[in-house]
Amino acid sequence: MGEQQTKKMALSLVQPSGDLTIGNYLGAIRNFVALQDEYTCFFGVANLHAITVTQKAADLRRRTREVLATFMACGLDPARTTLFVQSDVHEHAELAWVLNSITSVGQLQRMTQFKEKAATHADNLNSALLTYPVLMAADILLYQTDYVPVGEDQKQHLEFTRDTAERFNSRYSDTFKLPEPLMPKISARVMSLKNPQIKMSKSDPDENAYILIRDDADAIRRKIARAVTDSEYHFAYTEAQPGLKNLIDLYASFSGFTPQDVVEKFRDGNGYATFKAALAELIVEKMTPIRERFLQLMDDTAELDAIRAAGAEAASRVARRTLSKVYRKVGF
Ligand code: TYM
Repeated sequence: MGEQQTKKMALSLVQPSGDLTIGNYLGAIRNFVALQDEYTCFFGVANLHAITVTQKAADLRRRTREVLATFMACGLDPARTTLFVQSDVHEHAELAWVLNSITSVGQLQRMTQFKEKAATHADNLNSALLTYPVLMAADILLYQTDYVPVGEDQKQHLEFTRDTAERFNSRYSDTFKLPEPLMPKISARVMSLKNPQIKMSKSDPDENAYILIRDDADAIRRKIARAVTDSEYHFAYTEAQPGLKNLIDLYASFSGFTPQDVVEKFRDGNGYATFKAALAELIVEKMTPIRERFLQLMDDTAELDAIRAAGAEAASRVARRTLSKVYRKVGF
């Protein structure tokens, strides 16, 4: 496909494995919105990926709808952009199977996310956790994607995807485009509010470690007030003060200021309290309209279902073309 295509293709997926955080928003979803005008865009809900950890069926179904509603609440427009659910497009699983056949187990075992998950999910070390990157490669390669907007934690998976595409192309002749990640300059890795050494994650057991896209103003204020900083009381943007640095990055991302501007603005304040209060109000101001739209959208089941169905159709059209090419090349 795509020889005649004028616009470049951008694609990314988000797992419905928990409530989404402002890390997902700043690292990924907000940047999806910015790409809509320039690129042909496909954004999906990675529910096939989500079952690599145990899920309750009803929760997974609800969260899948929540991610779709979040996409739209953040500004993705289904009239311009394809929004789809991964399991609605069976080509993802089919291409993953083919790509599995050219992937070495050793390479998968060396992936950082697998090693981390193997440590935290030792009780459920299923083989889908190991082959997760192969499915992700299939997600991307099916659409002949040029750009993949993601947070920094997905960088290694993107490298794996390029490797896999190159391997297939050299074995079976040129088939897949090699995709490139697109990462924001600030907030490619939003850190936990409780431990700035680890990334903010929806699966963190401490709910004060993250701010959810659906958190209300009080929750946002409380969590920012409790965010760890340090006892230096010196307002600076340095690796030596990672908690404060993370908060400065948040302020910069939400305001459009540079981190240096933020330091300039707040360094004469007394301690960190003034800064934290201003940061909380900034996040409340930016996230409240999104939260309100999200709640409205979740009320309109019929609209979400219609968008999902249209997205499945549009995504399948593209995916089918690539998969049939692949099937021909491998001899099916
Ligand atoms: P997931 O669902 O964990 O996260 C969705 C997106 O949010 C980004 N992100 C962050 N960015 C900055 N700071 C954080 N603390 C933070 N936490 C999460 C992630 O980088 C991601 O962009 N494997 C993917 C889902 C996926 C995918 C794909 C992505 C499946 N297929 C194809 C791109 C293309 C994942 O687990 O993301």
